[in-house]
Amino acid sequence: MTTKRIGVLTGGGDCPGLNPVLVGVVRKSIGLDYEVVGILKGWLGMIENVTTPLTRDKVSGILPRGGTILRTSRTNPYKDPEHIKKVKANFKAMGLDALIAVGGDDTLSVAYRLYEEEGLPTIGVPKTIDNDLSGTDRTFGFDTAINIATEAIDRLHTTAESHNRVLVIELMGRHAGWITLYAGLAGGADVILIPEVEVSIEEVCRIISERHGRGRDFSIVAVSEGANLGEGTVLQTDKVDDFGHVRLGGIGERLSKEIEQRTGFETRFVVLGHLQRGGTPSAYDRYLGLRFGMTAVELVEQGKFGTMVSLRGNDFVPTPLKDAVSLTSTVDPKLYERMKVFFG
Ligand code: F6P
Repeated sequence: MTTKRIGVLTGGGDCPGLNPVLVGVVRKSIGLDYEVVGILKGWLGMIENVTTPLTRDKVSGILPRGGTILRTSRTNPYKDPEHIKKVKANFKAMGLDALIAVGGDDTLSVAYRLYEEEGLPTIGVPKTIDNDLSGTDRTFGFDTAINIATEAIDRLHTTAESHNRVLVIELMGRHAGWITLYAGLAGGADVILIPEVEVSIEEVCRIISERHGRGRDFSIVAVSEGANLGEGTVLQTDKVDDFGHVRLGGIGERLSKEIEQRTGFETRFVVLGHLQRGGTPSAYDRYLGLRFGMTAVELVEQGKFGTMVSLRGNDFVPTPLKDAVSLTSTVDPKLYERMKVFFG
């Protein structure tokens, strides 16, 4: 058995389950006599060479904690060729034999390019509350997010009913409506609006009016931040991040005004925002995190670089990073159509 040094970083938006992944990486590494180097603040830490040793002690007690003890950033080293040179130089300076990148499609697309274009031995772990990564049945963080969103919808129900109001809840999801679809269905929302399927405001009002006409004089509307009402997405700001993403937000407010104006029903809105990804991970996300983390180390041991750990059924298997980052996993419009039986 040769001693190896494995680097691990967490990039992109934080997500419940990141700390369990770190526990999985460290605990599996102990038996293999691997050293684990924690790289701070995602790819920024690789550019600036900021690290911390990840020992058994360091990860003790972090399993139930949300966020990431390694911190995170949305830094894209490919924005500047000098930064890529630094990443490569620091990989060497840190004495790494492998690098595990835990992130969504942005973080993993960098891991893929570093493997493909620079020859660095990288392994990916799929993280995102949005569940929008291809090549895996599930990303960790999604389960926690839908539980938080469902609980919020349950709470909105009682107040909506007491006041005979329409309540619009805006949920995360730029291009993928998984959170809104799952939490909307689980919470019994009367209208669910996702980025993948265009629904007009007239249609939303028609469903609500019909429901109220049947004597149910309150309604819940669950809407993704990137939902498609046929009018373009609603932006919080037109600034873009390092990966070219705009910041969405405001569709809930816009929709609630329209509903009130067009139907005459008193309407309020709530933006659940970062509550969806803050705080303690669900039991399932802790389990996924541990299994993803330990499998990533097994892939290092097997030399399966350029891959991402993915969940297929109950198995944790490698899938090419290339496949994982080339396509966004979105809701099939046919599935959405079928779920309309629960609307209204
Ligand atoms: O992690 C993805 C995501 O949750 C998106 O659904 C959302 O648009 C984005 O993060 C917002 O993140 P931030 O506020 O950190 O830029």
